[in-house]
Amino acid sequence: MAVKKILLYPNPQLLRTSEIIENFDESLVSLSRDLIDTMYDADGVGLAAPQLGVNKRIFVMDCSREDEEKDCRIVINPKIEHESEELGSYNEGCLSIPGITEEILRPKVIEVVYQDLRGALQRHSYDGLWSTCFQHELDHLNGKLFIDHLRPMKKILVKNKMKKSSKREKKA
Ligand code: CO
Repeated sequence: MAVKKILLYPNPQLLRTSEIIENFDESLVSLSRDLIDTMYDADGVGLAAPQLGVNKRIFVMDCSREDEEKDCRIVINPKIEHESEELGSYNEGCLSIPGITEEILRPKVIEVVYQDLRGALQRHSYDGLWSTCFQHELDHLNGKLFIDHLRPMKKILVKNKMKKSSKREKKA
């Protein structure tokens, strides 16, 4: 078990574009284990490598319901090949932005391609929470956070709220 520290916004490593993964080696397996352990430990449904301070294009996600078996996907070098015109709204949060959730609109259904731990290509269609989570985590690999989808005024309000809460946390 290797539970790592999750970087918090506005750490600059969260705002970088992550690099394509070319070596499917032991260190990648070990990074994927850290991501999985840290995600489950934090009760998250997804976690991207930049959140652990590693700017590589890998994330993990498990959006299975509590009454379902665990279903963890390891997603490497992801691309969205098609997105539906229909949008879905979800109240999103992020382990790097604790205490804040906002309704975010995104394409409802996406068709994606990515590589697994052995480098083999995987194709999937995702809907609902799986689709939201995939897009949220892919944004992390491009240095983008869910609050970047908010209208400018709303984003300023959320940032001010975050500053206040981080001050409180330091005092406590
Ligand atoms: Co996030």
